[in-house]
Amino acid sequence: MDSIISITEDLFWIGNNDRTTDLFESLWPLPRGVSYNAYLLVDEKRVLIDTVKSNSIDTYIEKVDYLVQKYGKVDYLIINHMEPDHSGAISVLRTIWPEIKIIGNKKTAEFLKEFYGITENILFIEDGEELSIGKHRLKFFFTPMVHWPETMMTYEVTRQMLFSGDAFGGFGALNGGIFDDEVDLAYYEDEILRYFSNIVGKYSPMVQKAIQKLAPFQIRLIASTHGPVWRSDPREIINLYDKWSRHEAEEGVVLAYGSMYGNTAKMMEAVARGLNSEKLSTIRIHNVSGVHLSYLIRDAWKYKAVIFASPTYDTSLFPPMDHFVRMLERKSLKNRIMGIVGTYGWSGGGIKVLEELAEKHNWRLLDPTILAKCSPKEEDLRECFELGRKCVCRMKEEK
Ligand code: FEO
Repeated sequence: MDSIISITEDLFWIGNNDRTTDLFESLWPLPRGVSYNAYLLVDEKRVLIDTVKSNSIDTYIEKVDYLVQKYGKVDYLIINHMEPDHSGAISVLRTIWPEIKIIGNKKTAEFLKEFYGITENILFIEDGEELSIGKHRLKFFFTPMVHWPETMMTYEVTRQMLFSGDAFGGFGALNGGIFDDEVDLAYYEDEILRYFSNIVGKYSPMVQKAIQKLAPFQIRLIASTHGPVWRSDPREIINLYDKWSRHEAEEGVVLAYGSMYGNTAKMMEAVARGLNSEKLSTIRIHNVSGVHLSYLIRDAWKYKAVIFASPTYDTSLFPPMDHFVRMLERKSLKNRIMGIVGTYGWSGGGIKVLEELAEKHNWRLLDPTILAKCSPKEEDLRECFELGRKCVCRMKEEK
């Protein structure tokens, strides 16, 4: 069966590429799709590692059945993560093959009961515990909150392969190849960062803990639940996740603006000219009314500075800008340079939300905040240009 892909002679990719779901978690756009990666390890015991989302059950069961015919019945199902994009096939699997023993921890069992009513035939493992399945030995690492409390990783000791759950994953269905050395990684990198910043980034301290926990172990292959399987250079994805979870950023500025009648847009253009006058070309301008939040969060995670240009609306921030700022606050993105410009008619509200973000998460606010009444005047636009220049100078100072 072509859609079963051999990773080694006894390890198989049995996941599915979802190219039809529009929004991951009904929130985050999937213009390039997403993969739900699942695996079967064949030894004296046959071990499934994670399942797929409910919309992919048919193809998953078909693959499991094919391998059962070839290698014999499945003994275990390891559940590294219970979010339904990976646990969606458990009930069907159990109905067809009730003898399969589920391997998880105490928190896994809570979710199993509450999502699927499953309480029987569970093998509870402890953090660091090992299980021999023949010539392979599996070691379990608890990595809570990467991305849910029950999350764990499974490390295959003999071949040094890590089944990492959501960690080291990314958006983007797998186009033909599944390995890092057979796909166009440049095509995937922004989608991996968008996945990280939208889904996992809030839990950056826990990602750091997980990376430290794995540090003593040699890792030759990373098989995540989303995106490419890293066999050529697993360090590459670990380094990216390490950098992003430290909230380290690249030289560049995100200019997020909203504008109802073009006045705030003029201020944004003046800021952009100021940025460019200091030879900065990495300027990402997003109209918050038309660009999905998902991409705004990704770019804020990627670059060192964000300048917010917002009109006042109902005596507060322009609603799509308000949503963006509150999500940044919620995702706990830290350590950025921030600038604020905007317009108001009779009350300059909304700045408080931005100041709170700055205070809570160590964003350095550029001086001054520039607010124009109704429309920007020459002096306002000059100040906006200067703010752009100052932003680039501040990035250079902080290098
Ligand atoms: Fe891919 Fe947290 O599930």
